Amino acid sequence: SVKEMESRILSIKKKLGPKLFIPGHHYQKDEVIQFADATGDSLQLAQLSSANKEAEHIVFCGVHFMAETADMLTTKQQHVYLPDMRAGCSMADMADIYQTEQAWPILQELFGDTIIPLTYVNSTAAIKAFTGRHGGACVTSSNAKELVQWAFTQKQRIFFLPDQHLGRNTAYDLGIPLENMAVWNPHKNMLETKEPLENIQVILWKGHCSVHEGFTVQHTEVIRKKHPTMSIIVHPECSREVVAAADDAGSTKYIIDTINRAPSGSAWAIGTEMNLVNRIIKQHPDKHIVSLNENFCPCLTMNRIDLPHLLWSLESIEQGQPHNRIQVDEHTTAEALSSLERMLARG
Ligand code: 13P
Ligand code: SF4
Repeated sequence: SVKEMESRILSIKKKLGPKLFIPGHHYQKDEVIQFADATGDSLQLAQLSSANKEAEHIVFCGVHFMAETADMLTTKQQHVYLPDMRAGCSMADMADIYQTEQAWPILQELFGDTIIPLTYVNSTAAIKAFTGRHGGACVTSSNAKELVQWAFTQKQRIFFLPDQHLGRNTAYDLGIPLENMAVWNPHKNMLETKEPLENIQVILWKGHCSVHEGFTVQHTEVIRKKHPTMSIIVHPECSREVVAAADDAGSTKYIIDTINRAPSGSAWAIGTEMNLVNRIIKQHPDKHIVSLNENFCPCLTMNRIDLPHLLWSLESIEQGQPHNRIQVDEHTTAEALSSLERMLARG
């Protein structure tokens, strides 16, 4: 039963003490988050992983790329596990390293040595390694602006992977006109733009988050009609049109902080993952909060991690035969670390 599973988890946590560390991303289910030793967005969880030198076992409640990042940022003695290997990220899967290696020489031919790659942490370790190899950095939705600004001090152009929306929204906020952004289509292996090439400042990989693409301008119109005084806040993984139609946009942490600061009685429609929106609603009974999409938007892969999988993972550690270790090879780690460290130094 649920009660039995919960008490087993508690007793394993007690037994392993500080040898065990359970980070949990804000999009995780309540049934999992209740056992997290720390919660955070992807930047905070990356920072926490690199700061923790004590835990031998890190059971990552999040998705695969986050566990890979945690493995790369921790020591060899620290092992990272993902309670369900099916917890991937459809956005990270949209940028394949082979496609990226094919794109790069074409971009070099078009633009010469004027491009620096930036990759959203929502990407595989191999893409982070590619980025590190070419002098670039990782970004998260919390520090994308700072890193795009930094990248322009290095080169004239940015190749932003894999989320076109975060790339476009961030560059737009920094004053780059939309027509100076081109989309790289990895299926056709070509650049989609009608502009003269010399005007292009940002090349956006054609990837997206299917959860955040679930929010549309129509949803904002419904809210405006139904609740004219409600403020709309969305994650920058939403499309440019949705961000433009909203009142505010920012990372998971920014959304949480904004609602925490908001006065009692204020009204909000939030455009981000369902587990987080439901948790925010519960934590603020004094505020009127709804999901921007009435049908809500769950991240199905985040939801793969549930109570039974968490227990299964912890029991395997307790028995000395851990399941689902996430281990990035040394060569990839070395190259990827340079892109992660460039981010952590600035973000
Ligand atoms: P942040 O945690 O950086 O806001 O990213 C959101 C997300 O989609 C994580 O997968
Ligand atoms: Fe990936 Fe989107 Fe899910 Fe985040 S919310 S893990 S970007 S699919």
